[in-house]
Amino acid sequence: MGRVAASTSDIEKAVGVLRDGGLVAMPTETVYGLGANAEDPAAVSRIFQVKGRPPSHPLIVHLGSAEQLDDWVQDVPAAARLLAEHFWPGPLTLVLRRGPRVPLEATGGLETVAVRVPDHPVALALLAAFGGGVTAPSANRFGSVSPTTADDVRAELGDAVDLVLDGGSCEVGVESTIVDATGGTPVILRPGGVTREDLEAVLGCPLAVPATSHVRVPGQHPSHYAPRARVVLVEPEKVITEAALASELGHQVGVLLPAAFATEPVKAHAVVAVPASMAAYARGLYGFLREFDQRGCDLIVASLPVEEGLGLAIANRLRRAAGPRSTV
Ligand code: TXA
Ligand code: MG
Repeated sequence: MGRVAASTSDIEKAVGVLRDGGLVAMPTETVYGLGANAEDPAAVSRIFQVKGRPPSHPLIVHLGSAEQLDDWVQDVPAAARLLAEHFWPGPLTLVLRRGPRVPLEATGGLETVAVRVPDHPVALALLAAFGGGVTAPSANRFGSVSPTTADDVRAELGDAVDLVLDGGSCEVGVESTIVDATGGTPVILRPGGVTREDLEAVLGCPLAVPATSHVRVPGQHPSHYAPRARVVLVEPEKVITEAALASELGHQVGVLLPAAFATEPVKAHAVVAVPASMAAYARGLYGFLREFDQRGCDLIVASLPVEEGLGLAIANRLRRAAGPRSTV
């Protein structure tokens, strides 16, 4: 686990790929991103092709430092500055008014743009050497589980990406928290690596997390972050009986076993005991889901963690993984 420093020549190669309009998969502290030069509309369009993502779904522009914010956005409210100051580099994405440097290809035609400064030495080295912004969605096919290792990226995208920078496994493990900071009170569009509690402590006011909103945010579609196996959510104390029942019915069941039941016997094809620490759970979550797919599970039985701290992001991803598939 942990971070692997990319060599200077890897970074130089990656900068060359970006300048030539190519795609570079880069590690961040949250998940791996599929990066292109934010100011090259053709390269940005290639991201959508490779991901199989509808072009109306906007991307995040990654910057090398908070000082670059005003080069890319306009009308930054005081609350947004405060959040950038406190949480960058880090797993927080701010939605702000688009500056002229951001092509509409990157924003899905919106007049707002999502920006963040990632907290990973390889991403920061790349962004510093490149100098510009890098648009990067998570480096997975649209709707599937985000990659948290370089091998996951290769398995997802293969030759469709020109270069994969290996930065080890991602320390946060779930995507950034997205905050719409264009209006008066900031609104959480997607819970993620920075907790609601941390945001509220800095802002000094409670924050709303809309249950559903924003059709423009694919992370808000019911089935997103989904493994191939169907995901069923039950109460923690019902996980073991549900798994046994489904196994008897002939399913290859993968179980995300709540920490409180870690020592109990389980009848299932594959069992992962969920880490008691929410940080470790978030770090491992996508790897667990991928492992169930790799082991041939057709059904995953899980329960939701308590929805506070990182538990809010974990529960959000599990709910979406369990959501109806037809709506993607
Ligand atoms: O941690 C992360 O955020 C990772 C790493 C690579 O930085 N990136 C990521 O990107 O998760 P992606 O594309 O998978 O998710 C970005 C989300 C999408 O749900 C998108 O709709 C939303 O950000 N988004 C981007 N621009 C937006 C905007 N202008 N308004 C509202 N939502 C926006
Ligand atoms: Mg994604």
